[in-house]
Amino acid sequence: MLDKIKNLLDELNGFSATTLEEIEQFRIKHLSKKGSIASLFADFKTVPNEEKKAVGQALNELKTVAMDKVNALKESFTGAEFGKSGLDLTLSGDPVKLGSRHPLSLVRNEITEIFARLGFTISEGPEIEDDWHNFSALNFPEEHPARDMQDTFFIEKNPDVILRTHTSSVQVHDLQEMELPIRCLTPGRVFRNEAISARAHCIFHQIEALYVDEKVSFADLKQTLTYFAKEFFGEKTEIRLRPSYFPFTEPSAEVDVTCSLCGGKGCNVCKGTGWLEILGCGMVDPNVLELNGIDSKKYSGFALGMGIERITMLKYGIKDLRLFFENDIRFLEQFTAAGF
Ligand code: DAH
Repeated sequence: MLDKIKNLLDELNGFSATTLEEIEQFRIKHLSKKGSIASLFADFKTVPNEEKKAVGQALNELKTVAMDKVNALKESFTGAEFGKSGLDLTLSGDPVKLGSRHPLSLVRNEITEIFARLGFTISEGPEIEDDWHNFSALNFPEEHPARDMQDTFFIEKNPDVILRTHTSSVQVHDLQEMELPIRCLTPGRVFRNEAISARAHCIFHQIEALYVDEKVSFADLKQTLTYFAKEFFGEKTEIRLRPSYFPFTEPSAEVDVTCSLCGGKGCNVCKGTGWLEILGCGMVDPNVLELNGIDSKKYSGFALGMGIERITMLKYGIKDLRLFFENDIRFLEQFTAAGF
């Protein structure tokens, strides 16, 4: 009997397996009810009394060795299996990927925050407009080229219905609907019938600011522009006003800032001039105030409007406007806002 046990012990110790199936067969062969160890236990009663103690101990030890062997094999085996499948339950989970804000939204938010510090609140208007809000009430003469079909998307059945060509149309809503004084900021989408290229698109975004109160002067406009330019482009930024023409402002100006890339020395981006054009502005034309029922003798105001795409391209050095609309994740994920 002891010899049998010894032989079996050697067999058990020498066993190794390459599949889970082999381990299971090994377990059935030795540890099941009809297995080799159970049959040795069954033979135990035939063992002479004087050997019972030694044989009993050897049998118990054999069973323990067999059970440990099965467990150890299973453990090492399953570990290796998991390794193969790449599954490690101790690893932490995949982080959830955070989205990022669209660069146009980042810049729009930054601009609105700067103006909010000056007391401007947001107002929004419709993207589908009529001729009155987009042109007539803003003092556009009938024959003004901006009314030309080249620029404006008209609705065929009713040429009075158009897609707004600028956010200045919201000035008309605000002048008519808001209580004075008005100090509001209008971000929004605008539409022009233009060929799509690296520099132009048929859909783009503008931000308009309008301030109307008693005794608003050109100095207020200039100070607002200076504050905005320094906050947005940096403390060292300077502004320059060039006389210009817009039907709804008088006098009108275009505003340049010193090129933030070369600091005004002249580079590729500013085409060697040291200056970058960023927006149009002016004192609200008294005609516009009167057309919208506001007494131009008592009230005056300033307005300004800028293209968000242009400002964003300047800020991030983006060369092609079409990137804003393609929604290529490789482009979009490069932009993150502080605190987002
Ligand atoms: N609406 C003008 C445009 O789309 C931009 C503009 C210029 C807005 C002067 C203004 C302004 O409010 O005062 O080109």
